[in-house]
Amino acid sequence: MRIGILTSGGDCPGINATIRGVCKTAMNFYGMEVVGIHSGFQGLLTNDVEFFTEKSTSGLLNQGGTILGTSREKPFKKKGVSPDIDKPAIMAENIQKLGLDCVVCIGGNGTQKTAAKMAAMGLNVVSVPKTIDNDIWGTDFSFGFDSAVNIATDAIDRLHSTASSHKRVMVIEVMGHKAGWIALYSGMAGGGDVILIPEIEYSIKNVGETIMNRLKKGKPYSIVVVAEGIKTGDGKRAAEYVAREIEHETGIETRQTVLGYIQRGGAPTPFDRNLSTRMGGHATELIANGDFGRMIALQGNEISSIPLSEVAGKLKLVTEDQDLVVQGRRMGICFG
Ligand code: F6P
Repeated sequence: MRIGILTSGGDCPGINATIRGVCKTAMNFYGMEVVGIHSGFQGLLTNDVEFFTEKSTSGLLNQGGTILGTSREKPFKKKGVSPDIDKPAIMAENIQKLGLDCVVCIGGNGTQKTAAKMAAMGLNVVSVPKTIDNDIWGTDFSFGFDSAVNIATDAIDRLHSTASSHKRVMVIEVMGHKAGWIALYSGMAGGGDVILIPEIEYSIKNVGETIMNRLKKGKPYSIVVVAEGIKTGDGKRAAEYVAREIEHETGIETRQTVLGYIQRGGAPTPFDRNLSTRMGGHATELIANGDFGRMIALQGNEISSIPLSEVAGKLKLVTEDQDLVVQGRRMGICFG
């Protein structure tokens, strides 16, 4: 068997560990050939590929980013594409020319949608969920999330010492797209006093009151963790808006930090390395069994898979009954 593998969408820690998991399982255990496709779906349109060897997949476990490169190419998007160009047909032709029995697509929500459409065309695909945002429906965790939470928690820890020394309010904005998973997990792990996420409506008045109540109790500083996706009154960045409004509301000196792409870079945590390895291995097993059109998922402690048609177009968001939200509220943390 010969399989192709590509990585699409934003990079995140654990992609290379997944590539390694697929390649080593495919070559060592199943005797398959693996073709690396460069720059996501773009590489399938231009036939930009490399043939992997045992050597080319060494040293990948702890490497950040993706050795295959990535792009946000959406081959099924018609807008802005000349009607003479049929990208899905070009991909199908190239898959056939390369002799690929299946393509492993590693990516986030956009990638799952594309993979589902390829499967609906009759192409053999298996996908692996990848995103720091943890917003892919059907899997409890995607790799990259734990690494991003680790980085964000470390940043919040560091903000504590400077906030307490200066008696300031520190607002930190973390990524997450439309979901609040990174803010919730890092905010709770980092001891945030206020955690604002897109899924829970907030009022600056409540936030201000929480901070003033802390002051009255002898705590002259506060840590406010905000997800990039929260609504802001003026369309400004979350951190900028929230910091300005808090200062206005409380009169306490307030500073803002936008953590940005640091959350996506560098080595994956041991949890993400093992999750990637397990998911990569399971993807290869599905292919060997001829079980196509599925996304690998972590459900509880088990690696399993679900049909791509069930995943595509859905988002996994934080709900009010999440353990961490419930427990945070019990402890007096303000969610809005
Ligand atoms: O999906 C991962 C993510 O890092 C989001 O948290 C963020 O909103 C987005 O990607 C930024 O992506 P880009 O690489 O397009 O700037």
